[in-house]
Amino acid sequence: VSNLKLRGASIPSVATPSLKFLGAGGDEIIDCAAASIAEIDALPSELLEISSDDIRSLAAGFVYEPLGVPALRKTIADRYSSLGVETNPDEVLITTGAQQAVELLFTLFARDRGTILMENPTYVGALDAARSMGAAIVGLITHDGIVDVSDLRDKMERLPARVVYLMTRCQNPTGAVLTAQMCREIAELGEATDTPIVDDMTLSDLAFDGRSRPLLASLSGGNIITIGSLSKLFWPGLRVGWVRASAPIVGRLARLKIVADLGSSHVSQVLAARLVPLIDDFAATRRAQLLERLALFSSALQEQLPTWSFRAPEGGPFVWVRLPQGDGEVFAATALTYGVQVLPGARMSPDVSTSEFLRVSYVAKPDVLRAAVARLADAWGTFADGSPDRMPLDVVV
Ligand SMILES: Cc1ncc(COP(=O)(O)O)c(C=O)c1O
Repeated sequence: VSNLKLRGASIPSVATPSLKFLGAGGDEIIDCAAASIAEIDALPSELLEISSDDIRSLAAGFVYEPLGVPALRKTIADRYSSLGVETNPDEVLITTGAQQAVELLFTLFARDRGTILMENPTYVGALDAARSMGAAIVGLITHDGIVDVSDLRDKMERLPARVVYLMTRCQNPTGAVLTAQMCREIAELGEATDTPIVDDMTLSDLAFDGRSRPLLASLSGGNIITIGSLSKLFWPGLRVGWVRASAPIVGRLARLKIVADLGSSHVSQVLAARLVPLIDDFAATRRAQLLERLALFSSALQEQLPTWSFRAPEGGPFVWVRLPQGDGEVFAATALTYGVQVLPGARMSPDVSTSEFLRVSYVAKPDVLRAAVARLADAWGTFADGSPDRMPLDVVV
């Protein structure tokens, strides 16, 4: 995104030399669309070093390993056990990022036009995966990102849903976190209807309350399937995620994983096995950093865009903003001509119903965040005025 150039209008320049992704002319897009907060510089060098001996011993050990490198599966299993979800390594499948975990699970449960229940709004990559395999997607009512448990109950009982996809801790895009009581009710529903419930916990380490609430998987037997990832704390380029599920489900997923890619990179998995034990320390640092940036971003928004409304997220890298008027898609296009990329809320909705929302990430460094809000305020001035001079000029036929 950072190499997109602006079209047309003059852009207020940002004269801070320390901003890495603003070009000399200050005319590059500020990326408030991405969720990437990991800073690899924060990792000690010795953790990132892989010697030729390491590679040789890896290569001597195994050829293809569709379930994942055993040492990493064990480290992840131990971590779940320490979090109150007793787990054996054969209940863990390593995936190429959490995105592949979502894709494999939807393929397993819903590939032949099966019904998937998902929060509305939901994670855009899950929506894309479900759509691309032709699943029947049914949106669940949410209130400020919290799934409406009676709507979920009604739909689970009424529809033949094959799978439910939720983010109980740090929802994407709203940053909502479900209470322990809600999680209990959801776990009971999964058991009563014998429906698999996928809890995508990719953003969960970024919930500001730390680990004070129990994991959904700790509240139920075999029906809860958990997805995790190292992308948000460490590095998305590692492409390491996982599924925690019963051993038979892991076995079925492994067959799909063979078809997809025969197994994830062993080199990445060796690095990942070193990083998993550091999750808690890194999460604490990252949360403190996010909270600081959220305070700055919220007060800048309240000052310069007082008509925009949002509920403070309980974690994660985004603010889910409701515009007082107009369509988020059109505003996002206008904002781009002013040098900020934000995501229109409709993209995250199974029925495109959240069109008055925007997902705005606040993970950029403080100077960049201030510049982003100033640009958004300028864009809003034009947009709310309805004046066409800065509107995008794409011809759509
Ligand atoms: C909820 C959720 N699931 C999955 C993913 C994909 O993560 P990964 O980089 O591990 O594939 C993301 C990325 O933002 C996410 O927010």
